[in-house]
Amino acid sequence: MRIELLTLFPEFFASPLSQSMINRAQTQGAVEFRVLNLRDFTTDRHRVVDDRPFGGGPGMVLKLEPLVRAIRAVRQEDPEVRVILFSPRGPMFSQDKARELAATRHLLLICGHYEGVDDRLHFYIDEELSIGDYILTGGEIPALVVADAVTRLLPGVLGGEGAVEEESFQTGLLEYPHYTRPRDFEGLDAPEILLSGDHQRINRWRRQEALRRTAAQRPDLLEKAALDDQDREFLAKLSDTGKKD
Ligand SMILES: C[S@@+](CC[C@H](N)C(=O)[O-])C[C@H]1O[C@@H](n2cnc3c(N)ncnc32)[C@H](O)[C@@H]1O
Repeated sequence: MRIELLTLFPEFFASPLSQSMINRAQTQGAVEFRVLNLRDFTTDRHRVVDDRPFGGGPGMVLKLEPLVRAIRAVRQEDPEVRVILFSPRGPMFSQDKARELAATRHLLLICGHYEGVDDRLHFYIDEELSIGDYILTGGEIPALVVADAVTRLLPGVLGGEGAVEEESFQTGLLEYPHYTRPRDFEGLDAPEILLSGDHQRINRWRRQEALRRTAAQRPDLLEKAALDDQDREFLAKLSDTGKKD
C-alpha cells in the first residue's frame, strides 16, 4: 500500500514514520510513505500557499491552486488514488473506516492548516475525515492517526506482536483486560484463572470480561456487536445483578 501525506510541515513526519510498527511495516514492504510539501506545488517566487479569507475575519485560508496541483500530480501517477481531506466537519474516523482504507491500494491524505482550506476543494477530493470533536492546529496529527491505524491492519505487519482480531472495536466489543508479571503487585492479584492453563476457561473468561467492560463503558457498542446466545445470557445476568463494572 502507498500512503502520501500532503503537508506544509514535512519534517513533522520524520520521527513518527521512522519508529516502531510504522517503520517496520515500511522495511517489510507492506507500506510505502511519501511526504509531499505543499509549497512544492506553488508557482510563484515566494511559494505562497495561503491567503486572507474573502469577506474578512481572522486567520488565513489554504489556497486552491497548490492543493489542486498536488492532487492532480498524484492522480496523474495513479488515477485510483483515494484523496482524503482532514476536517473537523467530516465523518468521524473509526476502526471500520480503518479496515475499509486498509483494503485500498493508495491514499493521499491532505493536512489542512490555519482556518482550513478554500471550500471549493471539495470538488477535487473523495472524502473528508475528522478524528474527533475538537480542533487541532493542523491535519498532520489526524494523518498520523489514520496512517497508524491503517498500517497496523495490513497483512503481516503486526506478526506476533498483537492479534488484531481480538482488539477493541475489531470484534464490536472493547477488548478484555491484560495482565503480566508480577502475579501479585502491592496486594493486587492478577486473576487466578489466567494462570490456570485451561485455555477454554480462559477464553470464556476473556469473552465475558469484554462483554462486562463494553456494557459498563460503551453500552452503545453492544447494539451492533455480533453476540451469540451465551453472550446474551451473560449480559442478561449482568443487568439482573447490576454488576456492570
Ligand atoms: C485549526 S484547524 C481549522 C478549523 C476550522 N477553522 C474549523 O473551525 O472547523 C486546521 C486544520 O486542522 C485539521 N484538523 C483540525 N482538527 C481536526 C479534527 N478534529 N479532525 C480532522 N482534522 C482536523 C484540518 O485539516 C483543518 O483544516
